[in-house]
Amino acid sequence: MNTLSTLWPYLKLHQRQFFLGTLAVFGAGTAVTLPAYFTRLIIDGLTGAADTNPATAGITAGQVALYALGAVLSVVVSGGLMVLVRRLIVYASRQIEYEVRRDLFAHLSGLDKHYFDRARTGDLMNRLTGDLSAVREMIGFGSWQLSSVVASFVVSFFWFFSLSWRLTLAVLVVFPVIIGVLFMLARLISARYVAVQEQNSVISAKAQENFSGARVVKGYAIEDREITEYKSLNSELIKRALRLTTVEGPLQASMSLLMGLAYVIVLIYGGRMILGLVPGSPLTLGQFTQFALVLDRLAWPMLSIGMITNMLQRGSASWGRLQDIFNAQPYIKDDGRTDSSIKSVLGEIEFDHVSLNFDGQQVLKDVSLKIPAGQTLGITGPTGSGKTVLGNLVTRLVDVSSGTVRVDGVDVRRIPLRVLRENVAVVPQEPFLFSDTIASNVAFGLDNANYAPIPTRISVLKSKAPPPDDRQPDMNRVRAAAEIAGLASEIERFPQGYDTTLGERGVTLSGGQRQRTALARAVAREPRILVLDDAMSAVDTETESRILSGLRQVQQGRTVLLIGHRVSTLRHADHIIVMERGQIVEQGSHEDLLALGGHYAELDRQQRLEGDLKSEDEGKLTRDALTEAASQIKPSGEPLSTEKVKA
Ligand SMILES: Nc1ncnc2c1ncn2[C@@H]1O[C@H](COP(=O)(O)OP(=O)(O)O)[C@@H](O)[C@H]1O
Ligand SMILES: [Mg+2]
Repeated sequence: MNTLSTLWPYLKLHQRQFFLGTLAVFGAGTAVTLPAYFTRLIIDGLTGAADTNPATAGITAGQVALYALGAVLSVVVSGGLMVLVRRLIVYASRQIEYEVRRDLFAHLSGLDKHYFDRARTGDLMNRLTGDLSAVREMIGFGSWQLSSVVASFVVSFFWFFSLSWRLTLAVLVVFPVIIGVLFMLARLISARYVAVQEQNSVISAKAQENFSGARVVKGYAIEDREITEYKSLNSELIKRALRLTTVEGPLQASMSLLMGLAYVIVLIYGGRMILGLVPGSPLTLGQFTQFALVLDRLAWPMLSIGMITNMLQRGSASWGRLQDIFNAQPYIKDDGRTDSSIKSVLGEIEFDHVSLNFDGQQVLKDVSLKIPAGQTLGITGPTGSGKTVLGNLVTRLVDVSSGTVRVDGVDVRRIPLRVLRENVAVVPQEPFLFSDTIASNVAFGLDNANYAPIPTRISVLKSKAPPPDDRQPDMNRVRAAAEIAGLASEIERFPQGYDTTLGERGVTLSGGQRQRTALARAVAREPRILVLDDAMSAVDTETESRILSGLRQVQQGRTVLLIGHRVSTLRHADHIIVMERGQIVEQGSHEDLLALGGHYAELDRQQRLEGDLKSEDEGKLTRDALTEAASQIKPSGEPLSTEKVKA
């Protein structure tokens, strides 16, 4: 229950609705017992029983009609109030669901690579849907039912005591037993429910991975194995669900049994009181009838205690799972060191004795390097040598373990993240495209400035409805960027041109087209620093050269980190480094490195050889085919490294 306190800020946003709703619940709970009261007046009138009030002894036909009308009216009033309750409390629960979902999404968007490297998409989806619904049910239907049960008990016991305290005490003997049984069952149910939810998450995650990896699964023809695994996860789910059901059944049965017991007591003891067998405690037939009718009305609230405890347990377990997300904090965020006066960067990059460890593994060792603004640094080296990580340090997807990364001479940890990331564009090894038009994919990083951070923890009733999303990509910039990325002519040949909608993750494009779309996206942003992380591995050599010379023209005064394996493109860089096991093992200009006769020279020799082969055997064995072959040898998909070539 402790985790529920964090739900309070959201409830508070709607406290008026909850307060009025609870009042209406009590009103309805009172009104619904009135027919029993009118029944007593009629019966006692008809039997001429001496009631506490002598005026009711004896009754006219007019009075009977009046009481009957009263009974009907009270039912109508209670029905009307119920509608009002729904309008207040259930509405509030839907609104809170919206607010929590909005805040969860905003919070998730603020989390970093560190979190998403570990989180499973299917599990997150499950929390944002299933768990959020469970919370909504607890807040809406759950709190409504809870206050309705409390109202029923308060009103019923008011009547019980006013009718006969002896009979009330007799009934009360059974209640602790009922509550005890309920409590035990509810705890059991809660534990088993959590087990079901956990398995649900595992299954969603499995399905989600299989669907997004459908091509790989098919490609390796491992459908049967995947189906078998899914089946076993699924049968674990049904096992857990059945274990839940086995305890849910006895709950209902034992409730009916215990209520029956209370009835037996009322019948025997009340009957003796009517017959005058209990000295000092006379009871009229009308009073007895009212008692029995009110007790009868209590059966449902008693039964629903089980359901409500369940709903509350489920809701709070689910809220706990949502709270886990809210509790996750980004490792990398603006903090006390951030200097908010920094609004832009020029592009000089400096690595000053930078080291980096991941889980005890040293990934970068004492790397020192300075790239003046506007220059291009070529980076090459075998897979796993730390090239990508070097680029990630500049955008602060990761932070150094020791040493300092500086941009314009300023520690990157002092530059506001937004400023840094608006000025650095990365074209990753594996670009991610959205299932949207090509134009939107290219314009993805644009017109961000119009959006302010979304306020959280505010009521949906007070927040303005978001404007309709009618963003139109700036087509001039999109075209210019596509031109530089060497993509324009191909896109224009598509029947729908820039309006062509891509499949999920851009699967309807070739690998090279995907890479160039991602490149165009980065270029469109006109960043001060551009990181090309093996961004053209699927593009042929000639196109790559053309793109790079186009880039050089527009990238005047921009700093470029060019990670790659082709000497033909690396050679134009102002400075080239060769990485190996997290260290710079060679550096200098193209000529320097050739003269050095190390890894780089070997890479050059190897690629010349392939080039000669290609011109000798034109059309049969292209360099790209070689790269293709090489990438199949290495599971990472990267072309052969210098080391491999030597070996
Ligand atoms: N998020 C991460 N968690 C743990 N280890 C990582 C992570 N990212 C990269 N590494 C490790 O850092 C090393 C360098 O990776 P990377 O920079 O991607 O190499 P590459 O030169 O192929 O781009 C590798 O050994 C890799 O396993
Ligand atoms: Mg890499």
